[in-house]
Amino acid sequence: MLSDTVLKALNHQVNEEMYSWYAYTAMANHFDHVALKGFAAWMRTQAQEELGHANRLMDYIRDRGCAIDLQAIKAPPSAWDSPLAAIEAAYKHECHISKCINDLANLASKEGDQTTHTFLHWFINEQIEEEALVDDVVQQLRYVQDSPSGLFMMDRDIAASRPAGGETAA
Ligand SMILES: [Fe+2]
Ligand SMILES: [Fe+2]
Repeated sequence: MLSDTVLKALNHQVNEEMYSWYAYTAMANHFDHVALKGFAAWMRTQAQEELGHANRLMDYIRDRGCAIDLQAIKAPPSAWDSPLAAIEAAYKHECHISKCINDLANLASKEGDQTTHTFLHWFINEQIEEEALVDDVVQQLRYVQDSPSGLFMMDRDIAASRPAGGETAA
């Protein structure tokens, strides 16, 4: 069993991960709309990973004999001024999620719940990769700046960098 405090915080993190899925799906839709199909595919892979994170948390809550309490997912924006603005927003969001996970792990420790604390290690490590991956794209977009040919080259390459249908369950 989980304490009410830890359970509430884990349920909240499910909502954060579902929002991540929603926000990245909105970015993928936006990239499709502006004919950047490579960026759209890359973002859809990111979104799928977020569903995997939500599922991992829900499996854990269930395994601990507790009830999953799904909440409404807030609406994300539907358009961004530029590819850089969108990916910068994604990077900022990943940093927010890292802080959420860190706070959650601290809370589990404070509650004396070492099982949940250990479970959260996977997420702590995952966030290193998540931040680094998105930050790479931010930096590449800054090199490209206003060069359409640079952007089209990136769009071609980015889809191949993370094939669709990759990690979906983790
Ligand atoms: Fe996530
Ligand atoms: Fe993420």
